[in-house]
Amino acid sequence: MVKLTPPMGWNSWNTFGENINEELIFETADAMVSTGLLEKGYEYLVIDDCWSLKERDGNQRLVPDPVKFPHGMKAVADYVHSKGLKFGMYSCAGNLTCAGYPGSFEHEFTDARTFAEWGVDFLKYDYCYHSPIIHGQYLYRRMGLALENCGRDILFSACSWGADQTQEWIKTSAASMWRSTGDIFDTWESVKDLVKQQEKLHPYNGVGCFNDMDMLIVGMYGKGNVGLKGCSDTQYKTHFSIWALLGSPLMIGCDIRSINEETKAILGNEELIRINQDSACRQPVKLQGIWAGDDMVLYARQLENGDMAIGLFNMSEEKAAARFNLDEVGLGFSTGKTLEMTEVWSGETFKVTNATVSRELEAFDCQVFRAKVVDL
Ligand code: DGJ
Repeated sequence: MVKLTPPMGWNSWNTFGENINEELIFETADAMVSTGLLEKGYEYLVIDDCWSLKERDGNQRLVPDPVKFPHGMKAVADYVHSKGLKFGMYSCAGNLTCAGYPGSFEHEFTDARTFAEWGVDFLKYDYCYHSPIIHGQYLYRRMGLALENCGRDILFSACSWGADQTQEWIKTSAASMWRSTGDIFDTWESVKDLVKQQEKLHPYNGVGCFNDMDMLIVGMYGKGNVGLKGCSDTQYKTHFSIWALLGSPLMIGCDIRSINEETKAILGNEELIRINQDSACRQPVKLQGIWAGDDMVLYARQLENGDMAIGLFNMSEEKAAARFNLDEVGLGFSTGKTLEMTEVWSGETFKVTNATVSRELEAFDCQVFRAKVVDL
């Protein structure tokens, strides 16, 4: 299945790990609707690792754990669909999943058919316990082929973080997204690290196959499946803004059944979602900036209607200034044009009157603009 803009949804792993069951999924489906997140575009509800028994059945089919999912997966899919959501599941290109459940290696076509029968719309496909002989690209092509021949439209999410040079071959598979970084953790250091890892991979992001910077940690506050300290709301806001601007899929990872207003406001920022879902899906450009240290990260992205999205991200614990020159986004005095900037969090609007744009940013904070090209 081809998905032309970055997929959006929720995934069970970050918060719940192996502690998943049908009640959690039903309640989460309800919450996706009652919080308004579905309306904002978060449409996929995805069950990650640890949903099956440790053995296949006599027909070599995967079996949902009857304690966790007593009514089977078709019933879960039906409930999720009844809420207007799409249903996602998880498997792995290896013999086992990362948590030690059966993987799909040498069962790809059977498993794809099983997922189709259950009503699955999205498959996250991990890369643990893979063959040491067969290259990852063959395994991802194989499952992609199995999904495209299973009789149902299933979005293929390649969680191919460990496969060699994935960026070079992933678009030869049917993947709509691919994990371009390692796992995220609920700390600021992890966010910084993933943003850095992503830098050289931007040229590979684009329409129909998106660099997946991993699930969002917004709103987790340290309540993840591994005990970590969590982040502040300002850090979550900046994390979300970067993922959105860089065109990553937006998969929520917190417990949305108990979501607070701050988290809802971050995940629901409509202007950022609009930028993330921009139909041109152009490659972001890292701005050099002026006197910007490593902790001042500046990005711009040209949008489909001729606007620019510009993000200024202060990754440090000190208040700092972000400065860049309009030449870097393609404008200069000789063009007779300048930018009318609207900040997506505050609504502040101003016209740039100088070739250099300079903004003060609080510690860990960001400003993201939709910038219109107007006369000088
Ligand atoms: C590794 C992946 O990167 C995670 O997102 C998660 O799916 C775990 N595996 C599950 O075991």
